[in-house]
Amino acid sequence: ETGLITLDPGYGNTGACTSAITFIDGEKGILRYRGYPIEQLAKSSSFIEVAWLLIFGKLPNQAELDVFRERLTRNAPLHESFKHHFEGFLVDSPPMAILSAMVNTIACFPSQNECDGSDEECFAEDAARLISKVRTIAAYSYRRAMGLPFNYPDPKLSYVANFLHMMFSMPYDQHVADPEVVDALNLILLLHADHEQNCSTSTVRTVGSSQANLYASCAAAVGALWGPLHGGANVAVLEMLEKIHKGGISAADALKLAKDHTSGFRLMGFGHRVYKNFDPRAKILKQSADKVLAQLGVKDPLLDVARQLEEMALKDSYFVERKLYPNVDFYSGIIMRAIGIPTNMFTVLFAIGRMPGWIAQWREQNEDPKRRIARPRQIYTGPNVTDYVPIEQRK
Ligand code: SDX
Repeated sequence: ETGLITLDPGYGNTGACTSAITFIDGEKGILRYRGYPIEQLAKSSSFIEVAWLLIFGKLPNQAELDVFRERLTRNAPLHESFKHHFEGFLVDSPPMAILSAMVNTIACFPSQNECDGSDEECFAEDAARLISKVRTIAAYSYRRAMGLPFNYPDPKLSYVANFLHMMFSMPYDQHVADPEVVDALNLILLLHADHEQNCSTSTVRTVGSSQANLYASCAAAVGALWGPLHGGANVAVLEMLEKIHKGGISAADALKLAKDHTSGFRLMGFGHRVYKNFDPRAKILKQSADKVLAQLGVKDPLLDVARQLEEMALKDSYFVERKLYPNVDFYSGIIMRAIGIPTNMFTVLFAIGRMPGWIAQWREQNEDPKRRIARPRQIYTGPNVTDYVPIEQRK
């Protein structure tokens, strides 16, 4: 009755698409960006180099990387009128609400070029514009919430160091980022850069399939990412670990609640629609957590709680039978906390990391000559045809 699911580049009437960007083997726990294993990229690459790889399909040579870096530097500042928009938000406004609104707002300011992704030069500028400004917007939303003056981007700094400067520099004290912190944040952004057709990326494709512009499509993705079952999980993991650590519940209680479907409690940071094995990103972050906390001299009891929880869950038949393993969100929050990122900014960092993937997927769909507007179908379960009843005859 529902017909066969056919692969359709523009989604068309199906929920599946073709893509050459990211490969995942959920059973084996494999993740590759444009064919490169995530483990190799995590070890040897950088977030900016991986952004170029995802968007343009190959590792950049030095000249290409230099041009991309120059575009990012040039596009870091926001139009001065942007500040008035920030002033309109209450100081306790959710950073993801601000991010979604402000990513859309980029489209209100004259770009050096309008493009639909067809002109390489024009598109590269827009991609850099979005990847660069999303970092400035995030930092400004934090400064606004803290009642602190905005810090202009510093053209001498690298992508991550500039973000940390805009977040943490004070008028009397320029923030000089610890190289270990820069490396840790680079790794986190790189690991989040793309992940095939997840909820927020599917949103980019769906919105972009109507030929909506890049900013509108990515602003919609920010909304999808915000949910606690998706990007919001990294905040929910920390809240869960805190609750266990503070004695609200024991680790054993948490597992018991997670197994009781009536409790509405889930082991946050565990399980995945595709991975039925370890999420390779979680493995890398678990190793990195140890290293980063040791280098920074941070002792975080939540890391011990996370390890204890993981150990118990991996021995518990409920989790084993359902192939529920730690996912990318289980350890990322502990590292972000150690490097001083406020908890309510964790999902914003996820969005900054995922931006290159959203851009790459938006362009891939836009470039496909067979692209069509997304129009999923349904199985109708409502009433059969019914005649209208005048109000005086209704019960
Ligand atoms: C991300 O798609 C992506 O690629 C996403 C992402 C990306 O990079 O874009 O990887 C990022 O979103 C990671 C996921 C972050 N979310 C969480 O950690 C929230 C906790 N996880 C779960 O809510 C859940 O595992 C999901 C949402 C991640 C996946 O949901 P599914 O595939 O719809 O799983 P399901 O609900 O069908 O679960 C199957 C069974 C159910 O039990 P039964 O009905 O078979 O008895 O497993 C149970 C679920 O109740 N289950 C869990 C659980 N996850 C699934 N039980 C307890 N705790 C959990 N975390």
